[in-house]
Amino acid sequence: MKMGYFHRDMTVLGIETSCDDTAVAVITDGIVRSSVISSQLDHARFGGVVPELASRAHERVLVTVLRKALEEAGATLADVDGIAVTQGPGLVGSLLVGVSFAKTLAVGLGVPVEGVHHLDGHVHSLFLGDEAPSFPMLVLIVSGGHTQLMRLDAPGKRTLMGKTRDDAAGEAFDKVAKMLGLGYPGGPVIDRLAANGDPGHVAFPRTRLPGYDWSFSGIKTGVLYYLNAMPEKSRTEYLESNMAHVCASFQAAVVDMLVAPVERAMEATGIGTVGLVGGVSANSALRSRLSALTGSMGGQLHVPDLAHCMDNAAMIAMAGFSHLLTGHASPLTMTAHPSLPFGDLA
Ligand code: KG4
Ligand code: ZN
Repeated sequence: MKMGYFHRDMTVLGIETSCDDTAVAVITDGIVRSSVISSQLDHARFGGVVPELASRAHERVLVTVLRKALEEAGATLADVDGIAVTQGPGLVGSLLVGVSFAKTLAVGLGVPVEGVHHLDGHVHSLFLGDEAPSFPMLVLIVSGGHTQLMRLDAPGKRTLMGKTRDDAAGEAFDKVAKMLGLGYPGGPVIDRLAANGDPGHVAFPRTRLPGYDWSFSGIKTGVLYYLNAMPEKSRTEYLESNMAHVCASFQAAVVDMLVAPVERAMEATGIGTVGLVGGVSANSALRSRLSALTGSMGGQLHVPDLAHCMDNAAMIAMAGFSHLLTGHASPLTMTAHPSLPFGDLA
């Protein structure tokens, strides 16, 4: 047994197809036996995910990804005790492929299927490592579609403290990368370039809202105005020699903005344990700032392994596992829900 509340020797198959990654994982007793991800890189040339191409690709590769996940786990379908699938939010056509596949498989195998909220999956990525964080904790969810701060008092007992009022943090990275001609997704490339840049080079605006909310539309237009203020020719030349500085300055502004509400929430609640999840949790500057902050306040930062920061099916399997253990399973009328709400309580 690995940790307090997950305890049965159950093998759960996780399926994630909410966006452009087709992922299948096998976990037993909360331990990851395999986690296979097939990324649809062909979206990059369109500067973003093309929904119809994404669903068709999921349909094409899902069985192959499943076979690979079973093979890497040394398991067969007969070992599967339950299936967890991302029900939403996400692209409806993509979700439909995963959900209908999961339901069909569950009927065929005679096992329960549990629909999982994608963000609940990200939260459960914190429990995939060897060292599980303790309750209560604050969790910062930063992905391409979401930016939220929540308080977690026990498994499934969560309270939303703050959220973005417009763009998600990852979306800001992606849109700014596009403006800078850096391609999609923007986060990893900005992170890499920023490592050699001066974060104080450009003082981009930092929007601060009362409470624990964020707004990232200001920083996005801040970068746009900054670039548009230069004549096109000098802008190209300027970016050629200053790209790392612009990336570092933008990244520093986003990190400052992301961290401020977390710091206030730590002070207000006295909670020192902080979990950082979602694709943007891969960001090196964000990790080190939050690690320094929690350290200075006598707390601890928990971040999943890099492989579990980006969308993956192990986190979906883990969330499904925790629900199935409480005896909850979805009815077979469960359907893909592109804007599935993430309520206060699971
Ligand atoms: O969680 P995720 O894989 O998919 C969603 O559920 O949205 O997150 C993807 C987002 C993208 O916006 C991507 O640019 C961002 O995570 N991202 C990063 C980094 N790696 C991925 N953002 C900043 N720094 C990174 N190193
Ligand atoms: Zn995600």
